Amino acid sequence: MSETPHRSVPLFDLKLEAQDIEAVTETLQSGWLTMGPRTQELEEAFADQLGSRHAVALSSGTAALHLAYKAAGIGPGDEVIVPSFTFVATANGVLYCGGQPVFADIIGLENPSIDPADVERKITPRTRAVAAVHFGGYPAAVDVLAELCRDRGLALIEDAAHAPSAQLDGRKLGTFGLAGAFSLFSNKVLSVGEGGLLATDDDDVATRVRQLRSHAMTSTTWDRHRGHALSYDVVDIGFNYRLDEPRAALALARMTRLEPEIARRRELTMLYRERLAELPDIIVPYTAEDVARSSCYVMPIMLREPERRAGLCQVMRAEHHVQTSILYPAVHEFSAYRERFPGVSLPHTELAARSELTIPLYPHMTESEQEQVLEAIVHGLAATK
Ligand SMILES: Cc1ncc(COP(=O)(O)O)c(C=O)c1O
Repeated sequence: MSETPHRSVPLFDLKLEAQDIEAVTETLQSGWLTMGPRTQELEEAFADQLGSRHAVALSSGTAALHLAYKAAGIGPGDEVIVPSFTFVATANGVLYCGGQPVFADIIGLENPSIDPADVERKITPRTRAVAAVHFGGYPAAVDVLAELCRDRGLALIEDAAHAPSAQLDGRKLGTFGLAGAFSLFSNKVLSVGEGGLLATDDDDVATRVRQLRSHAMTSTTWDRHRGHALSYDVVDIGFNYRLDEPRAALALARMTRLEPEIARRRELTMLYRERLAELPDIIVPYTAEDVARSSCYVMPIMLREPERRAGLCQVMRAEHHVQTSILYPAVHEFSAYRERFPGVSLPHTELAARSELTIPLYPHMTESEQEQVLEAIVHGLAATK
């Protein structure tokens, strides 16, 4: 057994630079904190790097999903086909609109993205939309799904919470459907704490989302502050889903490092893949080609024998100080979902939810930290044989 290292390796580590702190400090000193010019600048920069007509800044990725479903017209009686191998927000957004999430299975452990064939099987006369999640920043088959949705008159929503700047066939993820929802949550590829963005090429969607994020008021506080509007009307029942200026400034500052950070994530992922390929007990999902397209938000592995997962985590944590996580428990297996949607059966999703283990990955991870993780896995696997 190798010597136990003392430094812990977190699942994710956030490193802020002086330019980030300066950008936020400058904003605090400006005296204008709610949505204003920096938010607008972020929207323009984000849309620009994505190649979409519009990006709308929001208070979270969940808000972006909610408003994407609203903009797709989801309401009571409507069904939206969603994966269950995702964060619960993908399905919750449908319920917020009064719609019904209908769960589709994933392709398998090697490709845990939503299965277009199962999506097609789940379409009914009540289906209005399909939500594709780019798990870990790896592209789901949104090219295939976009065609299916076009043929069947459905809206395609991309949950691109993990996938800023990831792409498929040269097109950025989040731009294949009616709208793409991005998250700026703490541990994400572009993180500011809490925040989100909705991308769309559809002018009407952008207008509606901008309205709904701020109580459907016809002018913003910033407009009124600048004397551009005296009063306002309220034209729908909206929400307070605004982003604020310090977080917009932080996102803008961090965006300048997005591409090099993703490049480093890809390198680290390839190094992991090379070494993990030697371990027959583990399946590493996706392919090297997928890595080149991905934002590599997280590093998922799948255990061939799920019953060893708890023991492996325990050894990695207790003896090697390596943090791991499970992305994701299946949404349809959560109590709140089981009660509402009993009898859902998704064999591949259920197996993935029992087999998956997320291991540490962040752009400034060192070689010795990565080595520590790999040693922990090798030792943990030997200990659970
Ligand atoms: C796949 C997925 N969808 C949606 C969300 C929701 O994003 P947020 O936490 O910004 O609301 C997250 C992140 O937490 C996520 O991982």
